[in-house]
Amino acid sequence: MPIIQSLRKLEEFKKTRGKHRPWGLVPTMGALHHGHLSLIEKADQENALTWVSIFVNPTQFNDPKDLQKYPQTLASDLKAIQEIAPETCVFVPSVDMMYPEGLKLKSFDMMGLDQPMEGQYRPNHFDGVATAVQRLFELVKPDRAYFGEKDYQQLKIVELIGDKMQVDICPCPIVREVNGLAMSSRNQRLTPDQKGQAAILFDILNQVKTAFGKASIEELHNIVEQALAPLPDISLEYFEIADSHSLKKIEDYSVSVQSRAFISVWVDGVRLIDNMLLI
Ligand code: PAJ
Repeated sequence: MPIIQSLRKLEEFKKTRGKHRPWGLVPTMGALHHGHLSLIEKADQENALTWVSIFVNPTQFNDPKDLQKYPQTLASDLKAIQEIAPETCVFVPSVDMMYPEGLKLKSFDMMGLDQPMEGQYRPNHFDGVATAVQRLFELVKPDRAYFGEKDYQQLKIVELIGDKMQVDICPCPIVREVNGLAMSSRNQRLTPDQKGQAAILFDILNQVKTAFGKASIEELHNIVEQALAPLPDISLEYFEIADSHSLKKIEDYSVSVQSRAFISVWVDGVRLIDNMLLI
């Protein structure tokens, strides 16, 4: 399995494989779990060549402690890729390759998609994500790129970059643990008991989906508060019902749009997000 860590090797490899298109890229920050692997499997089925990038992007972490604690497990990541898609090309760029002019953020017009929810609680996070994704697209030049609905707001923002750079963005469904908890590299920092408690997010989203259309939006917020009340270790950061396309908050049902529920909580210093399509 080719592992590329320099620009020279990248250009050489691209030349040898240039004629075999399409290329599918799966951008990741490593610490791979079955959520990531589902993206890699899909890309592997749909493309002549699959690329996986592994880069812990410093500019998207607004909390330096979160960056420090981010798990780095390159050896086991490579093993996991080798097992499911051994023809994959793994791209592991350095900070200098990704940021040749230093850790500067590029500016993007995200059409307001970066403002609500994550944007409110993680300032500059999406500028960091967009800068890294644009650079990966520039370096690899894929035809398609695969992103998870787990980070739904990120997916919508990346679609704008895909439009600009002629890369087809392929959305992939959320992969969950047996108890419903959405898989995430950050789950590694939870104790087994906390992981059990965090499954409440999936329960909440299901309850909201069942009540959606019958209960008022205020009542949906009450469902969330009541479900979390007996769990003092979990604190709510936001819960929102928003339009799946514009990500604008839905305050009542009068507008007919495709709605999605979004939730973010803290569990003992670990931040978790999840979302679900309602109609
Ligand atoms: P990372 O958190 O490593 O996630 C890489 C990709 O895996 C993202 O598209 C994410 O949505 C997807 N993913 C994570 N958990 C998933 C799950 N449970 N089910 C389905 N897909 C899941 O997202 C990033 O990295 C970075 O922001 C990145 C795009 C690489 C830019 O730095």
